[in-house]
Amino acid sequence: MRIDVLTLFPEMFHGVLNESILKRAQETGIVQVKLINFREYATDKHRTVDDYPYGGGAGMVLKPEPIFRAVDHIKESAATKPRIIILTPQGKRYTQQQAEELAKKDHLVLICGHYEGFDERILTLADDEISIGDYVLTGGELGAMVIIDSVVRLLPGVLGNEASPEEESFSTGLLEHPHYTRPREFRGMKVPDVLLSGNHQKIDEWRRKEALRRTLIRRPDLLEDYPLTEVEKRWLEEIRQEEEK
Ligand code: ADE
Repeated sequence: MRIDVLTLFPEMFHGVLNESILKRAQETGIVQVKLINFREYATDKHRTVDDYPYGGGAGMVLKPEPIFRAVDHIKESAATKPRIIILTPQGKRYTQQQAEELAKKDHLVLICGHYEGFDERILTLADDEISIGDYVLTGGELGAMVIIDSVVRLLPGVLGNEASPEEESFSTGLLEHPHYTRPREFRGMKVPDVLLSGNHQKIDEWRRKEALRRTLIRRPDLLEDYPLTEVEKRWLEEIRQEEEK
């Protein structure tokens, strides 16, 4: 996969891209991330990328020309039509489902804004406008890093045996069950007996039920879209009774 990031602050990405799994994914050639400072595509002497808003008001607005020129340049060297994404708090809220969809693409372009916002015409470049949550950041960079991280870890070969993305929170539609490792008892807190039983059917049942319990308690909204099996409906009833006590 190729990912091009248009940003005025490429250095913000260095820590995230040069550690751990994202670093290895680049080293093994699974993903190629290019950081492009679109200031380089400004044509005037001062390399201006923003300007005052028409109609007045506070803050500066990103000008269309440098971003359009940068995108034109990317498209010239692109093997396939890239998926172009603009990060903005006005975008659609990002989910695991979108990460899974983006992970199927060959080429992503992530456009990070800063200042008060984008000239509206820049938005015509985008296939998607994405927000990473209902809060306002100083720019789209952290959002772009969230997208890169969540997408790259889904690419075949990136996680190896460390984890299986199909079974984790949100992919299944539920939150994950609790995890434990040694020691069996720590500061009076014990590992549930069933996990030490060696009975894999029981362990599997316990995990599925605890995943349901967590989801019911913490994120009941997720259950609205989740197709419960008959067994799960029964467990949910049991959990409700257990939690009432
Ligand atoms: N830029 C500023 N705030 C943002 C957010 N919440 N998501 C994506 N991009 C942003």
